[in-house]
Amino acid sequence: MTLYKHYADELAGLIADGSLQPGERLPSVREASRRRGYSEMTVLRAYHRLEARGLIAARQRSGYFVQAQRQRLPLKPLLSAPPAQATRIDKGERIHALLGAIRQSHIVPLGSAFPSPHLLPLKALHAALSRSVRRLDPMQTVVDLSPGNAELRRLIALRYRGDGIAIDADGLVITDGALEALNLCLQAVTQPGDTVIIESPTFYASLQALERLRLKAVEVPTDPDTGIDLDALDSAIRRHRPAAVWLMSSFQNPLGATMPDARKQALVRLLAAQAIPLIEDDVYGELHYGPIRPKPAKAWDAEGLVLHCASFSKCLAPGYRIGWAAAGRWSAAVERLKLGSSLSAAVPSQRALADYLAGGRYGRHLRTLRETLIAARDEMIDAIQQHFPAGTRVTRPDGGYFLWVELPPGIDTLALQQAALAHDISLAPGALFSAREDFSHCLRINYGHPDDPRVLPAIATLGALIAGGG
Ligand SMILES: Cc1ncc(COP(=O)(O)O)c(C=O)c1O
Repeated sequence: MTLYKHYADELAGLIADGSLQPGERLPSVREASRRRGYSEMTVLRAYHRLEARGLIAARQRSGYFVQAQRQRLPLKPLLSAPPAQATRIDKGERIHALLGAIRQSHIVPLGSAFPSPHLLPLKALHAALSRSVRRLDPMQTVVDLSPGNAELRRLIALRYRGDGIAIDADGLVITDGALEALNLCLQAVTQPGDTVIIESPTFYASLQALERLRLKAVEVPTDPDTGIDLDALDSAIRRHRPAAVWLMSSFQNPLGATMPDARKQALVRLLAAQAIPLIEDDVYGELHYGPIRPKPAKAWDAEGLVLHCASFSKCLAPGYRIGWAAAGRWSAAVERLKLGSSLSAAVPSQRALADYLAGGRYGRHLRTLRETLIAARDEMIDAIQQHFPAGTRVTRPDGGYFLWVELPPGIDTLALQQAALAHDISLAPGALFSAREDFSHCLRINYGHPDDPRVLPAIATLGALIAGGG
């Protein structure tokens, strides 16, 4: 961690535990620099960071003072209320256009779906890649065709076992990221015209996948803390007889919701009673802030009805494109679909990740990453509370790196997105996350780039744009 961030975190801690009281003056930049042995620039950058979080404020010619803190716990977003009808999805192009705006690399990545590459162990990964390529016998590459490299599958299964989750290496199919795993699983359990239940709001790629396979969507209310509403799910199942349910049971994108274990068990029971497959997206499962990884629904799947998908994209190696499916009864079908579409995931990527995992440094990397993300979440929530209008609601997730922000009604986040882009800031407008154009006053904010000095000032800019009517 850079020195100024370290110093800012230390001061934020003193403010949080009351050692520094509201109204109290901080040492002048020169004095702090002398006493701590930091450069004046380091102290100034730390003070600016705290100012952007709203923890301190500069008074003209008097220095920096601790601000009175607003209520620490932000208002929680409301439960969604989607219509009960099935929707034919026709917004792939629109999603593509909105995502295009998010993807440009020179802009502040509040709309991004990935963490900062600076938080990932890129050097160690590249070393693993070159080691494994040097050792690769070209005659052996066919061995790693679908279902994938045996050592990698063994190591992935072992990680699950370490968290008390029984997933069999033989049932794993290695894919090009979780997105391919999800798409193949959906294809394995549906026919065109079928209905699939998804969350509201949902990860936009589920909408694209349903549209591509000509499936209808039924969106079910999803609580920002506890995930999909099981009563509403039960009624939707009775009414629509879906071919599958697709959801995220931990650290849902965009809400960050995690279903408590009892609800996950109830979900698996409910679906097993009607033999409905569950496509479970668990890409953020390893980014838990608490001491224990929340178990996926797959952990209670005695019938092989859960098609569990995950990847290394969110916490280790997005560009390596390595994901997997533990597809239960549909393992062989998913393996066939993978073979039929692209034979296998790239062999060097598979072997590099196997090499990296075998090196035993993944656990330490994850611990550091989680600590960084916890601090980044709190900083971002503080900045939102400081700069966004009264009545703004925001989640406080226990994992992943997204905040779901509900602005006061009437604020149009599609217009805000355009205005923000003119300031080189991306954001993910709420409309991306529903089959129709719901959540028009919501947005998803990525806080996984705390090393980017433009991020907190960008929140102030967004606040000013909102105050000025976009
Ligand atoms: C919820 C969710 N699922 C799946 C994916 C895709 O993951 P991958 O990059 O491994 O294909 C993403 C990436 O944005 C995601 O946010």
